[in-house]
Amino acid sequence: MATLATTEQDFSRLPEMPEEVFTAPLRRPDHLGEDWLEPKQTVYTPEEHAIWDELFARQMEVLPGRAASAFMAGLEKLDLGKGGVPDFATMSADLDALTGWSVVPVPMLIPDHVFFWHLANRRFPAGNFIRTRETFDYIQEPDVFHDVFGHVPMLTDPTFADYMQEYGKAGWKAMRYNRLKALGALYWYTVEFGLIQEADGIKAYGAGILSGPTEVVYASEAKSPNRIMLNVDRVMRTDYVISDLQPTYFVIESFEDLYRQTVERDFDRLYRNLPPAFTYANSAVIDVDNVLNRGTQEYLLRGGRGSGARPV
Ligand SMILES: [Fe+2]
Repeated sequence: MATLATTEQDFSRLPEMPEEVFTAPLRRPDHLGEDWLEPKQTVYTPEEHAIWDELFARQMEVLPGRAASAFMAGLEKLDLGKGGVPDFATMSADLDALTGWSVVPVPMLIPDHVFFWHLANRRFPAGNFIRTRETFDYIQEPDVFHDVFGHVPMLTDPTFADYMQEYGKAGWKAMRYNRLKALGALYWYTVEFGLIQEADGIKAYGAGILSGPTEVVYASEAKSPNRIMLNVDRVMRTDYVISDLQPTYFVIESFEDLYRQTVERDFDRLYRNLPPAFTYANSAVIDVDNVLNRGTQEYLLRGGRGSGARPV
């Protein structure tokens, strides 16, 4: 059966990025090889460890009751709150024993094809650097706090861990069809900003939500955003905003449901039918949507982050 990933590929080798596929132009620092990995993790200063501890403590004020139980369990299993920026080697050994994943240091955002290659081999590339006091509340470039605190706990969940690997493998096929934008939207609305239905309410499992204090509350409680059940075809046609709170969140029933909807379906057919540009605005509600809450979009209508609108 054709699936999200392509079946006949050798995932052990770094894929070629076809020339016609657009990706952000990134210059590889001279000291790095083709894998873009730092030879080793940064040695952090006491001030940098203190920044991790403060960010960690701030999140723990808002996460209980709002973060997915798999995420909270992952934090415990990896003991990420023991103090200071976690050591990647220790964390990787623990993670390997649980789901066969490791965490590897990178200096900055890395090219899509290199990112896919690491994920396909169950390696999670994490930013080596940590934000400063000046960028404590918000940074665009993912740092070690976003990458490790936000993403790594979910990799302790066996089904989610498999989904992440399949997502990496899916990159090969998306590049062949020149549909990286669509695949990027799937990552955005699941891995970064996904919500899940649990017995006692809707919880966040996306790292973009879980690594900051504002969006955790907004995503689960605010009246502004839409909350719509995940439909992969629809999500892959939907634009997304990278520097503000999301106008729409997509909700899954379970990680098994996410896996089934994405991995076990015919992406060749989907890619052939997808237009190169997004069809739906990020605030749109459309006929096929299974809507849990239709948002007021008050936050967006008041101008969003730049205008100082309250995240209501
Ligand atoms: Fe991320």
